Amino acid sequence: MTKVLKINSSIYSQDGQSSQLASQFIDALRERDPVTQVIERDVATEPLPHLDAARFQAFLTKPEERTAAQQAIAGDSDALIQELRDADVIVLGVPMYNFGISSQLKAYFDHVARAGVTFRYTEKGPVGLLTGKKAYVFATRGGAYAGTPGDTQTAYVRQFLGFLGIGDVEFVYAEGLAYGPAARDSSLAQARAAIQNLAPPVQLAA
Ligand SMILES: Cc1cc2nc3c(=O)[nH]c(=O)nc-3n(C[C@H](O)[C@H](O)[C@H](O)COP(=O)(O)O)c2cc1C
Repeated sequence: MTKVLKINSSIYSQDGQSSQLASQFIDALRERDPVTQVIERDVATEPLPHLDAARFQAFLTKPEERTAAQQAIAGDSDALIQELRDADVIVLGVPMYNFGISSQLKAYFDHVARAGVTFRYTEKGPVGLLTGKKAYVFATRGGAYAGTPGDTQTAYVRQFLGFLGIGDVEFVYAEGLAYGPAARDSSLAQARAAIQNLAPPVQLAA
């Protein structure tokens, strides 16, 4: 059984184009493996606070030395990380807002990047601790940037996930969604076709 963690980060929650493409991919996975288990995390409907010094200090403080408030902060982060640990496959909806990822997704990233928990530094550099997973990213944009310097998201998301040990990442783009109904429909149709051709997670490949 494949365990999937689906992360919606559109401000429109499940109605966002990125969330809908991610759902279509999960439907395709379920056709292959009907017992696929899906956990859904929506960082728009359940937003995380911005990371500030107090929250970061809670992460840095040893568990046995944390105050009750720090325990609560670290506990929320621990729960998010446990969801990631439990998942074989991470499915991420990534809309572009004002030339970047949503601030909700950034806040989520800030809560799961934890030294000694999801990554650690060694003499040879950083090592990600969330290994053995595959991620699929569904990136939706009003304009068109893939393959150009204007794509601020692909390298960033790949770098972030890789830093945590998730190096196997595939992207599907739906771009030009603001270029009018015909362009939008064509772009979404292409993205849906790409979803059907995505390489399955390794455990489903056989
Ligand atoms: C507040 C806001 C800012 C946006 N900024 C950009 C942008 O910088 N570049 C772009 O190509 N599209 C931009 N768009 C268009 C979105 O990328 C597009 O609507 C896409 O479908 C968003 O994904 P979603 O439907 O999953 O929310 C923006 C949309 C909103 C609502």
